Amino acid sequence: MPKNLWQLYTSLGEDEFRVLRAIERFQGRHEYVPVELVEKASGLPPSRLHRALAVLSRNKLIKRRLGNFSGYTLTFLGLDVLALRNLVKRGVVSLLGDKIGIGKEGDVYIAVAPDGSRLVVKFHREGRKSFRKVWRHRSFTLNLEASTWLEVAKYVGEREFKALVSLWREGARVPEPVAWNRHAVVQRYVEGVELSEAPEMGEEEALSALRDVIETVRVAYQRVGIVHGDLSEYNILVEPAEGRAYVIDWPQYVYKDEPHADELLRRDVEYVARFFRKKYGVEVDVEEALAYVRGERSEPPW
Ligand SMILES: Nc1ncnc2c1ncn2[C@@H]1O[C@H](COP(=O)(O)OP(=O)(O)OP(=O)(O)O)[C@@H](O)[C@H]1O
Ligand SMILES: [Mg+2]
Repeated sequence: MPKNLWQLYTSLGEDEFRVLRAIERFQGRHEYVPVELVEKASGLPPSRLHRALAVLSRNKLIKRRLGNFSGYTLTFLGLDVLALRNLVKRGVVSLLGDKIGIGKEGDVYIAVAPDGSRLVVKFHREGRKSFRKVWRHRSFTLNLEASTWLEVAKYVGEREFKALVSLWREGARVPEPVAWNRHAVVQRYVEGVELSEAPEMGEEEALSALRDVIETVRVAYQRVGIVHGDLSEYNILVEPAEGRAYVIDWPQYVYKDEPHADELLRRDVEYVARFFRKKYGVEVDVEEALAYVRGERSEPPW
């Protein structure tokens, strides 16, 4: 039976982590880090080094290249366990549970904090494949072309965490950010269902959830200066009984003065308004909502 991430993590010893860290350290300069460098950076004697390399290869935490010189590269799984190690050592996470998200660009797990509360850990995966549609036309991607996938994934993790911190501080309805390491972002678990699963909601609750979304878009725009850019029923979690909503999945945001920001803001608001209209029969005027979000009118359109 294949191990899940937590089982894999707990099966590793200190030597394996030393080797992973050694490879990570030189990954920026070498696609495949020469074995001599790994040996030097890990400080392990050859027999222990080779044992650790074998364990890591067998579990697909590293990949080996043979050729004129042999070398090793981290896989995303290798990066995952390094981030997990850090989060456990810092006392952020005490147990990693099941995968909950089947996201295109991240693996999302439920986790438990030392105090027993539930968390969500999102391991970003953006770097390796080309950026999908939503990431195109973003000014910051231009600076990343020369970077390795590992740096991209770490950068995206940092970007999402910092955006969540600003949004949370300003009172936006987003999951509370807890910690970040490498490409992993830890948030509080929020009770809710993806809007895409079309939870049953009365008209009143639906309108209230829609207001939460628009208010969050407004706080993001006016107080943080950003536009989500990928708002859809997949990135909104709702509490149907209470009629409350959270907006998740922020790493692709753009600043409001960037070239495509206006377009993206309009698309975000139109998309959400259309979904709520079709599914729940609640009506919000898009132009009025946009004016409210931008601060051109102070009264909400409901
Ligand atoms: N804080 C949270 N609390 C509860 N569930 C969450 C939380 N964050 C994410 N989830 C669940 O995990 C899923 C995926 O999360 P998210 O949208 O952040 O990443 P993603 O889908 O991998 O990214 P992308 O949409 O770019 O592919 C969500 O749709 C949601 O079901
Ligand atoms: Mg998502």
